Amino acid sequence: ETATKGGYEHFMLKEIHEQPGALRNTIHGRLNALDGTVELDDFPEGTFSEIEEVQFVGMGTSYHAAMYASNMLSARGVPSYAFQAGEYGLVRPPVKSNTLVVAVTQSGETADTLDAIRRAQSAGARTVAITNTVGSSVTRECDETLLIRAGPEIGVAATKTFCSQVTALSMIGERLVEDVTGGQSNSARDLVESMSRLPGHVQEVLDTSIASAVAKEYKDADSYFFIGRGVAHPVALEGALKFKEISYEHAEGFAASELKHGPLALVTPNTPVFAVFTGFDDEATLSNMKEVQARGAPVIAVTSKTDGEIAEFADHVLSIPETHPDMAGIPASVQLQLVAYHAADLLDRPIDKPRNLAKSVTVQ
Ligand code: G6P
Repeated sequence: ETATKGGYEHFMLKEIHEQPGALRNTIHGRLNALDGTVELDDFPEGTFSEIEEVQFVGMGTSYHAAMYASNMLSARGVPSYAFQAGEYGLVRPPVKSNTLVVAVTQSGETADTLDAIRRAQSAGARTVAITNTVGSSVTRECDETLLIRAGPEIGVAATKTFCSQVTALSMIGERLVEDVTGGQSNSARDLVESMSRLPGHVQEVLDTSIASAVAKEYKDADSYFFIGRGVAHPVALEGALKFKEISYEHAEGFAASELKHGPLALVTPNTPVFAVFTGFDDEATLSNMKEVQARGAPVIAVTSKTDGEIAEFADHVLSIPETHPDMAGIPASVQLQLVAYHAADLLDRPIDKPRNLAKSVTVQ
């Protein structure tokens, strides 16, 4: 076991550190940074020209990746929605033959996600699997597959597969934007260029993160909150999920805009708040940050703006390289994975195999 952990104390830490390589594999041969285009062999130009709406389904971490993707696509003019796969059969969103349903699943075996796909197919939808697992059930059941190529993930808490899922979804997302809206999005070149720089950006986070010091400083807190808006909302949810899964401490993620509609009542000097900034609408999140500070809560900002108001007001900064706002959630997630890991390590939790959880949930 020691050998496969490659000298790391846990598989999770190893997998966090494997992310630059995993991302390199995810994008390998699939980007043309010069033209600002994606080149996915199985999804040539025009492959989605009939599509009018996209529904993403997934569970757990994969649901957060699905939310991230739906958020990005809606903002670029493609009608998109994300559903927890387990709710899909109850919500019963209308599906037509020009609806694309995208199953996001690391293992490719999650029962809720397979169930959602079957329902979508019987209603006539076209289906695509975004998965890490060659030959998994989802690849057999969906019409088409895009592999995220993150390599095997042993830790129950998903890390590298989240970042690779978001990246793969961003790539197929660019294809959708072009095909559905009939043109590249204004910032396509910037976005594709930022995708190509992700491995280096994540490496920079791994080399410079002060996450272990932050985890130590707040190890006795009552609860941990995570906020963000836009794509930083799923990043906040994922940060909280990681934290609770492996530390067993109470953690919750919110849309930053939701904070004053309830969660603010829980904020005290003993509830650190992690605020995720992507560079888009940062002013509004800064004002949320000031609101929680006024209630005495320490704030840890995850941001590329290491000088200026955000850094000035924050108690700590977990810095991320400057990049396209839609890609900033990836290095930000890596910072939050490291915080969760170090918090759980200080508490001596069984990080790779948290109680009551399974890597793959094959029953509904
Ligand atoms: C389980 C795992 C999570 C994972 C979820 C979905 O709950 O513990 O880490 O996010 O299943 O798994 P999938 O394989 O579909 O991504």
